[in-house]
Amino acid sequence: MDEATLQTFGKSLGRCTENPDFLDLFYEHFLASSPKVAEKFARTDFVKQKQALHSSLNLMLRAARDEGSGPPSYLTELAQRHGSKQLAVGAEYYDLWLDSLLATVRMCDPEVSPAVEQAWEKVMGVGIGYLCSRYND
Ligand code: HEM
Repeated sequence: MDEATLQTFGKSLGRCTENPDFLDLFYEHFLASSPKVAEKFARTDFVKQKQALHSSLNLMLRAARDEGSGPPSYLTELAQRHGSKQLAVGAEYYDLWLDSLLATVRMCDPEVSPAVEQAWEKVMGVGIGYLCSRYND
C-alpha cells in the first residue's frame, strides 16, 4: 500500500484515539447496527474488549504496511478466533463493522475528509480481506 495512505490513516487513528470516547462510540454504533451483532457480544467484558480492539487497529495498520509480504502471521490467532469454528463472524458482519467504524471516525476525527475515510477503508480492507479468507480454517 502507498505510504501516503498509511500516513493519512495513522494520523487519523492518532486523532481518533485522543478522544476518550472513540472506542465506546464505535461499540455503540456496532452493537446498534444489527441484532445479530449485539447477540455475538451478549457475554462480553467491554473493558477488555476495547483494549483488545485498540491494539488490533495497530495490527491492521501493520498488515496494510506488510501487504505483499505473505500472510501476516500475527493475524493468525485473530482469524481463528473469528472463524467458523469459534465466533463464526462471516463476511456480512465485516460490512457492518467497517460502516460503524467510519461513522465513528466521522464523529471523532476533527480533520476527517473523503481522503481520510478512503484511507480507513483501504487499510482495514487488507486485514478484513485476510480474516475473511481464513474463515473456514
Ligand atoms: C477487522 C475487524 C475486527 C477486528 C480487528 C477485531 C478484533 C477483535 C479482537 C482483538 C478481539 C479479542 C480477541 C480475543 O479475545 O482473543 C475480538 C473479539 C471478538 N470479536 Fe472481533 N474484530 C473484528 C471484527 C469483528 C466482527 C465483524 C465481529 C462481528 C460480530 C466481531 C465479533 C467479535 C466477538 C463476538 C469477539 C469476542 C468477544 C468476547 O470475548 O466476548 N469482531 N475481536
